[in-house]
Amino acid sequence: MYMKRNLILAGVVVSVLIFAVAASGCITTGTPKEKVLVVGTSADFPPFEYKNPKTGNITGFDMDLIKMVAKKIGYDKVEIKDMSFDSLIPALQTGKVDVVIAGMTITPKREQVVDFSIPYWKADQAVVVRKGSGIKISSPEDLKGKTIGVETGTTGALYVKDKLGNSVTMKEYSTYVAALQALLNGQVNVLVIDSPVANMFIHKYPSLEIAYVIQTNEHYGIAVRKGNKELLNKINSALKEIMNSPEWNKLVAKYFGG
Ligand code: ARG
Repeated sequence: MYMKRNLILAGVVVSVLIFAVAASGCITTGTPKEKVLVVGTSADFPPFEYKNPKTGNITGFDMDLIKMVAKKIGYDKVEIKDMSFDSLIPALQTGKVDVVIAGMTITPKREQVVDFSIPYWKADQAVVVRKGSGIKISSPEDLKGKTIGVETGTTGALYVKDKLGNSVTMKEYSTYVAALQALLNGQVNVLVIDSPVANMFIHKYPSLEIAYVIQTNEHYGIAVRKGNKELLNKINSALKEIMNSPEWNKLVAKYFGG
């Protein structure tokens, strides 16, 4: 009688143990669960984020930087989600991604809906034209009457809308790849785009040149959901450490040097 009861008890204990081990993932996957940081970007912005033409993999300065940050703050890996630039903040707000890194300018308007890290890069807006187009720009006034290509939701688009308004025709594209194509095809007269990226594009397309740089004094930051202080503080201390280490110079040299 006692023997039988003990056997049943032992059986229950063993079953519970097996169940617990299986549920913890040890039996089914063989490895403990990885901590993954889900990162939103828009991979049309070299050298910050772009698709490697050979492999199709998303790479760039921002991608290396966020991997370094993630590692420092205890994540095993990052998962990159590529989308149009204007989808990034909504994706952050709805929890589809944990952070956004996309050469994103820290602006007061965006700061109302997301929180930004300390700045990690500076930019202005470049006016890119086709060589031989005869377009001379010596002040923003000279853009009047032009058809201007921009990427939807960017500070470049905002500048054109706010500062030039009805004096120009603004054409919005969901990616810079499409905007660039429109400039090459002659569908727009000029492109207004962040200066570091314009420098990359004119290097890649020798038929293009920078006609003018509008001093907008922008700073790029990493965005997190509004109020996510814990993650933001960790990101900021990791960023500070990285930016003060030789790793930073290596990273800059990799994407901007030589
Ligand atoms: N810095 C500009 C902005 O914040 C343009 C960023 C575009 N980034 C991109 N990955 N396409 O609006």
